[in-house]
Amino acid sequence: MWVADMDFASPPEVLAALRDHVDHGVFGYQDSPTPELVSVALEMLQKRYNWQVEEEWLVWLPGLVCGLNVTCRTIGKQEDEVATFTPIYPPFLTAPHFSDRKLVTIPLIENNQEWTIDFDAFEQSITEKTKLLLLCNPHNPVGRLFREDELKRVCEICLQHDIVICSDEIHCDLVLDDIPHKPTASLDANIANNSITLMAPSKTYNIPGLGCSFAIIPNLKLRKRFLRTRRGIVPWVNTLGYTACKAAFEHGEPWRKELIAYLQKNRDTVESFTKKHLSPITVNHVEATYLAWFDVRSLKLNNAEEHFENFGVGLSDGKWFQGNGFVRLNFGCPHSMLLEGLERIKKAVEAV
Ligand SMILES: Cc1ncc(COP(=O)(O)O)c(C=O)c1O
Repeated sequence: MWVADMDFASPPEVLAALRDHVDHGVFGYQDSPTPELVSVALEMLQKRYNWQVEEEWLVWLPGLVCGLNVTCRTIGKQEDEVATFTPIYPPFLTAPHFSDRKLVTIPLIENNQEWTIDFDAFEQSITEKTKLLLLCNPHNPVGRLFREDELKRVCEICLQHDIVICSDEIHCDLVLDDIPHKPTASLDANIANNSITLMAPSKTYNIPGLGCSFAIIPNLKLRKRFLRTRRGIVPWVNTLGYTACKAAFEHGEPWRKELIAYLQKNRDTVESFTKKHLSPITVNHVEATYLAWFDVRSLKLNNAEEHFENFGVGLSDGKWFQGNGFVRLNFGCPHSMLLEGLERIKKAVEAV
């Protein structure tokens, strides 16, 4: 129950489109998406997020981690600083180092399992070398969907200090509560001009192995720099990835709605089971994603991952996220499997 993909088959329309593509039998290079895919993606952004994205803002990528790394190499120069809020999906912590930048981490504030941004600490962390903020919204691993006022405050700080915002929104189609996701770059034109947004159909439709995602970079200068950085290093998107992406955006909405309902039920089960049976460990309320972040600090385990594995359940150790004393559980699985996993966690907790 660790790595963040789901145990569900992709939407039937995606599978049918992939079958058609395979039956065609030719898998040549595809250096750009079809115009139909571009229209479908732009329409999806407009419809779902009321965000009017121009075609030329799109830069297609074989993965979002690749997008994070290209972004770090694009912005600033060696020894410049990249800020991010922790705990965080591990590639946010490695991408700055891989790009010879300095990582600056600002811990989120935790209050009764609710996680918020420490704006003061963020401002205080800023130096003249801070050039980039890597933001994750919805947030992996804490499952928060940052609200408009929070995003605005972060962006104000960034604009004031000339810091580019890279917003990874890979989980934006997986909001489980009745709250709208607002793409950061859609807040206003100044913010858009200072932003790189990363999105993909991969998490939502369970096609991460097909490697199709995109960056949205409204600012021409920034986009040109991004394109120059990736030259010769980043391969084109997998041709089957494009096919799956188009089918998912075009026909996947009823499937996505069913998925959200299923994930809501799983999320509720995680929360109620934890309250009832897993004391003293606690879990946050997951507003978005299919990832639950358990606080197991009270168990005082030396090696949390190993302890839970010994009871037959594989979780991601918080140490990889700069979240020592926490473990992450992926509930994107059949309900019966989730219950079995939770029972094993219960045994692991009782054994301490
Ligand atoms: C926030 C976030 N960004 C990016 C990724 C991975 O993206 P990709 O597989 O496209 O590199 C993940 C996967 O878990 C993620 O949680």
